[in-house]
Amino acid sequence: MDSSMMFVAFLLCLSAGTILAEDPYLFFDWKVTYGTISPLGVPQQGILINGQFPGPTINCTSNNNIIVNVFNQLDEPFLLTWAGIQQRKNSWMDGTLGTMCPILPGRNFTYKLQVKDQIGTYFYFPTTAFHRAAGGLGMIQVQSRDLIPIPYDRPADEFAVLLGDWYNKGHKTLKKTLDSGHTIGLPDGIQINGKSGKVGDSAAEPLATMEPGKTYKYRICNVGLRISVNFRFQGHIMKLVEIEGSHTVQNAYDSLDLHVGQCLAVLVTADQSPKDYYFVASSRFSKIQLTSVAIIRYANGKGPASPELPPPPPQHVAGIAWSVNQFRSFRWNLTSNAARPNPQGTYHYGKINITRTIKLANFRGAHDGKLRFGINGVSHQNPSTPLKIAEYFGKPDLAFINYDLLKDEPPKEISTSVVTGSVVVNATFRNFVEIIFENQEKTIQTWHLDGHSFFAVAIEHGKWSPEKRKNYNLLDAVSRNTVQVYPNSWAAILTTLDNAGMWNLRSEMAERAYLGQQLYFSVLSPGRSTRDEYKHSP
Ligand SMILES: *[C@@H]1O[C@H](CO)[C@@H](O)[C@H](O)[C@H]1NC(C)=O
Ligand SMILES: *[C@@H]1O[C@H](CO)[C@@H](O)[C@H](O)[C@H]1NC(C)=O
Ligand SMILES: *[C@@H]1O[C@H](CO)[C@@H](O)[C@H](O)[C@H]1NC(C)=O
Ligand SMILES: *[C@@H]1O[C@H](CO)[C@@H](O)[C@H](O)[C@H]1NC(C)=O
Ligand SMILES: *[C@@H]1O[C@H](CO)[C@@H](O)[C@H](O)[C@H]1NC(C)=O
Repeated sequence: MDSSMMFVAFLLCLSAGTILAEDPYLFFDWKVTYGTISPLGVPQQGILINGQFPGPTINCTSNNNIIVNVFNQLDEPFLLTWAGIQQRKNSWMDGTLGTMCPILPGRNFTYKLQVKDQIGTYFYFPTTAFHRAAGGLGMIQVQSRDLIPIPYDRPADEFAVLLGDWYNKGHKTLKKTLDSGHTIGLPDGIQINGKSGKVGDSAAEPLATMEPGKTYKYRICNVGLRISVNFRFQGHIMKLVEIEGSHTVQNAYDSLDLHVGQCLAVLVTADQSPKDYYFVASSRFSKIQLTSVAIIRYANGKGPASPELPPPPPQHVAGIAWSVNQFRSFRWNLTSNAARPNPQGTYHYGKINITRTIKLANFRGAHDGKLRFGINGVSHQNPSTPLKIAEYFGKPDLAFINYDLLKDEPPKEISTSVVTGSVVVNATFRNFVEIIFENQEKTIQTWHLDGHSFFAVAIEHGKWSPEKRKNYNLLDAVSRNTVQVYPNSWAAILTTLDNAGMWNLRSEMAERAYLGQQLYFSVLSPGRSTRDEYKHSP
């Protein structure tokens, strides 16, 4: 790069965005600092936003422009991503290391996002230096515009619940472990909004307080690093209303599995005798059994919660069958609308011809004697020049991009010795793509795609073959941005790659993503010009 190009790249690191003037603006100033937190009762260094852990909730409405000025007061570079916020034609603000330069210590950067044509429940989190293990995360709730009806009565209030596994070691120690080529192992507990509780903790602040007879929306995300969680309310059933931006068929559940990186919203009615109840979150499909509780209070209620917790669903093989069945019960409500006035079901995704099939197999291996994870035999490494900037200048070599590194098929024999590099996969704009996630390992996986939502059409045990397509849900699969894959199983998703940009597809298992289990789709707009995307910016 010559110096003038360096300067332009530097400007691109500082400012770019797609903003439509007619939609309302919300402005946030966020100060990112270290502070002591004790999610499991053990004090440790956490990452706070405006002094808070979890960070502030962004409560916005479809099409709002969200302007977040982030001041990095840590001693390390810092970057936030907005998982599930699609940022049409604007991967410059996506906050992954392949698209942006991190914010240097002592500096600030202003994100310009637009929640265009979206509703739903999402979260933001840091993508730098394993910071996610220390906090810096919070919920994004996107409300429907007033003129668009929602398919249920407006709840009396909403509660944001961020839960997940937690490690007491702190992000610097965990990062050191990963950098030296080792696994971080299993977590120490489960946190619920920055706390963990045991049955009988009397002084605990309630997670939520409900007025008798009223109905509340709980938006819940699994922001953990590794472990699937099951959650349930003592004495109350949940009505599922939304998953990652889609209104669902409103089935009732006693308990729900929520895999790492997933979000959903349920309605709970305060229809029991007025006293305290427990909200329970417990680990799933793991060698360790972790449970945490929080108190759900009735206003003017009398009496403590019963010590008898609602039981978890079955574990092991029966548990997986239970969980797969629950996944299949999640359906798109075809007649309700989402962010736009037309019903969700008017988009007949099942009638679109598949133009490309990509099969991705996760694996665990080693490079130079150090633990790595990857996809189809390759393991991603972030170059110091973001991929997006190198591609924009037509200099893929600057970021060591090799568009041929990852093939659409896994190798026949997955070797445990790993090829590392900048893994970028070309995608043709508007191609309707089928992605098969194959998991031949013994642990459960979750995958997330930035910039797009997709239809999660099937999850099955065993190996995928083209005949399995007849089992796909081509009518009312939920359009979302994550999918789980059980051990020795596969999952299929369908999506139109119609958002120009450089988009991260990653394992939601933080250790796996950090050690290479991710890739980028380069989606070029017509004319194959990377500049078209940027044209939309001021
Ligand atoms: C979120 O925004 C909606 C719509 O503007 C509003 O009705 C609601 O009270 C807000 N919720 C919170 C917790 O601020
Ligand atoms: C940093 O913050 C200042 C003060 O709010 C603001 O004027 C400036 O535009 C910000 N810089 C960036 C790069 O966002
Ligand atoms: C689907 O949405 C409609 C609103 O369009 C609502 O009336 C209906 O109850 C919902 N159906 C189910 C099964 O949740
Ligand atoms: C989809 O594929 C079928 C069978 O190959 C073909 O007949 C049909 O014309 C295709 N539809 C579109 C919209 O391309
Ligand atoms: C991918 O796209 C780049 C940039 O447009 C191009 O140079 C390269 O040849 C493509 N590679 C493949 C394998 O299609």
